[in-house]
Amino acid sequence: MSKHSVLFFPDNVAVQVETGTSLLRAASLAGIELKSTCGGKGTCGRCVLKVKEGKVSVGGGNISAKLKTAGYVLACQTRVEGHAVVEVPRDSRLDEHQVLLDNKPVGLLAEKQVEELAGYEFQPLCRKIYLELDKPTLTENASDLSRLQAELRKYTDCRDLEISLDNLRKLPDILREGDWKVTVTLTSLNGCAEVLHLEPGRSTKKSYGLAVDIGTTTVVVNLVDLETGQIVDKRGTYNRQSRYGDDVISRIIYAGEENGLEELQQAVIGTINHLVDKLLAKNEIKAEDVHVAVTAGNTTMAHLFLGIPPKYIRLEPYIPVTSSFPPVKAKELGIAINPEAWILSFPAVASYVGGDIVSGVLVNGMAESDELTLFIDIGTNGEMVLGNRDWLISCACSAGPAFEGGGITYGMRAMTGAIERVEIDPRSYEVQVATIGNVKPMGICGSGLIDCLAKLLRVGIIDRTGQFQKDINTPRLRETEDGKEFVLVWGKDTECGKDIVLTEGDIKNLIRSKGAVFAGIQSLLKTVQMDVAQIDKIIIAGGFGNYLNIEDAIQIGLLPDVDRSKYEFMGNTSIKGAKLALISQPAYRQAEELGRKMTYLELSVGTMFMDEFVSACFLPHTDLSLFPSATKQS
Ligand code: FES
Repeated sequence: MSKHSVLFFPDNVAVQVETGTSLLRAASLAGIELKSTCGGKGTCGRCVLKVKEGKVSVGGGNISAKLKTAGYVLACQTRVEGHAVVEVPRDSRLDEHQVLLDNKPVGLLAEKQVEELAGYEFQPLCRKIYLELDKPTLTENASDLSRLQAELRKYTDCRDLEISLDNLRKLPDILREGDWKVTVTLTSLNGCAEVLHLEPGRSTKKSYGLAVDIGTTTVVVNLVDLETGQIVDKRGTYNRQSRYGDDVISRIIYAGEENGLEELQQAVIGTINHLVDKLLAKNEIKAEDVHVAVTAGNTTMAHLFLGIPPKYIRLEPYIPVTSSFPPVKAKELGIAINPEAWILSFPAVASYVGGDIVSGVLVNGMAESDELTLFIDIGTNGEMVLGNRDWLISCACSAGPAFEGGGITYGMRAMTGAIERVEIDPRSYEVQVATIGNVKPMGICGSGLIDCLAKLLRVGIIDRTGQFQKDINTPRLRETEDGKEFVLVWGKDTECGKDIVLTEGDIKNLIRSKGAVFAGIQSLLKTVQMDVAQIDKIIIAGGFGNYLNIEDAIQIGLLPDVDRSKYEFMGNTSIKGAKLALISQPAYRQAEELGRKMTYLELSVGTMFMDEFVSACFLPHTDLSLFPSATKQS
């Protein structure tokens, strides 16, 4: 088959691809990540490119007539047939915007700062030890290694002391170079200690670790100083696996294709390495000084990260290959840190409750408390855990990506330019919005969507089924080919120059998502024969922006109508738990324990969840007695 070159602008990079390759694939080969939330099915309309010249065959897909006439195409539906020159608009790029990392405490239900160690002892998984060894003599002629081991035993309870062949090869010269003074980087895992790194003399260099949250949509890395336990720096970006699909199911399907699993694994490792590179360069730290990494992600993410086939996760009876993952060396995975560094993955509970949730439970302390706590991660998979120190039950309600901006016309993640707050005047229907970073709006994130839905209901623009009312007189409510939509921000005031709207379809998606979350809560409670009144504390995690309006979340029926003081927001608990395990060996061991202790409730068995879901697909609910205060306000 003949090859053609595709040149991408403004990056000015060219790749050679075979006839029939999609532009989406060509862009990815050129290192350009495009938004492609539908995984190349042509339905999301995000992968828009402009073909400036050359031979391509253009397919259909979800693209407006206006864009088409202006020369734009969908990258996933366009195939290369000859040399081509292509322009990539800013809006279509995945890496353009950095993930919001810091939740500043403003507004209602701001993020609660967790105690760094959550009651666990500071005992990092890795540390540096300076040793002065006795010099060998003719009468005291123990080997180099036994000399080192004898001294190291003073510092560790571990009976087994290991060293890799690579380090063993370096040992004799390092010992003599430092005149029998040596700095050893020692890691202790599961009762076994290992010499990870050797430096002659007293090293002034520090030892670092990585806490990694592998989210389906985004990946966040914290670089941690293992001497102090402090975060040196953090960074986050989109998971490059997104181009193979928005959710875990489409990625599991892709993993089944030829080379699919390998591509997915490389995509996430590429994402992590990209972040690590930037963190190390900015802080002038060498890759060899990073000695351990702890990752937390859902069960599918953990499988894909380690290259374990995830196929059976989505097939009845939904079984993962394993729920506890072996430690792996960085060099085996190609993570760009010290090749001998250990990479640890948080254990999972079941196919749809993974290490990110175990990590959250570890750091939120619910498993150590007498209080009955409900922990909810409001994201695509919608995992939740109910319980206390005696028992824990978990489930995943598959809320869909709506609260992370997926499947919503102008939905986006909580990052600069996202609308996070909406006010609507009840008389004029005029709208005021607040964006993250106070810049021109580009889209709307989870907290903005919750706000918006609640306000549209409160001022009567939509009814309890989510339909737009007929007699509303405002130019903001208009009819299009695809149904009605409400204009939140006019094009003249937006970053993209287009009107930012919420369509009837968006509202339906949001109602389904919020219905799934509430149905999950009810199912957990019913299973243990309890009701919301018995819950002492509700901890919310999720990638919201600077704030989550709890009042609005209750008004739309996303969260239970209980005393507001019971609510706490902890932001990204997955990364916090990973960091905790990194700096505390007891916490790391407790994570293993938690994974085993949690019961998993499979919601697809029986009709309970479905019945609850149908009842919850109203605003706020079909049973208004569940939402006394919300009903009063509307
Ligand atoms: S339309 Fe191309 S990836 Fe979704």
